Amino acid sequence: MAINPVQILIDEHRVILQVTAAWEMADQAIEHGAAFPAAFVSRVVDFIHAFADAYHHHREEELFIPYVEHVSSDRARGNIGLVRQEHQMARYRARRADELLPAAAAGDVEAQKEIRRLLNSYCSLISCHIGMEDMAFFPNGYATMSPQLRARVQQAFQEFDANKENQETNKRYRALAERIVAQAREMHNDLKHHTV
Ligand SMILES: [Fe+2]
Ligand SMILES: [Fe+2]
Repeated sequence: MAINPVQILIDEHRVILQVTAAWEMADQAIEHGAAFPAAFVSRVVDFIHAFADAYHHHREEELFIPYVEHVSSDRARGNIGLVRQEHQMARYRARRADELLPAAAAGDVEAQKEIRRLLNSYCSLISCHIGMEDMAFFPNGYATMSPQLRARVQQAFQEFDANKENQETNKRYRALAERIVAQAREMHNDLKHHTV
């Protein structure tokens, strides 16, 4: 059965957005007095690095965008540069947050503040980015591909998904996303109990 690459990307976006929503919930808890949750932040950064970037953005950049480059529609190709640029901006924020983690975990308040700023900025960047990809870039790019190009994207996705290492990453980081969401809810609930 033919797979739908656009649907696969949209589904991965849903997992990424669960984690960004969890971070925003945790950040609210910190804002209202919860201690800086270094282990939680380290999980969020790990997820962003390994799933959102190394797995998902790699899939977009290597298995989808090269085929959009061949379509004749200027409109469909027009956003390729922007998509790549926003991936770079997202990478920079995650890398910087990762670098600051040891200091933040040791209690450096400035490093903690900077990590919160970087992750908040990451979340707004990536949710706009995903909105643009879901609503326009991927559906338009795919719709304007020839049947031959579409078949090549499908094949590239199938090969990527058949790879054992990719399967493990997918499974492990979806489980981590659930753990991150559960932990953010706990932080939120703890805060409610303390403020009642
Ligand atoms: Fe993207
Ligand atoms: Fe994406």
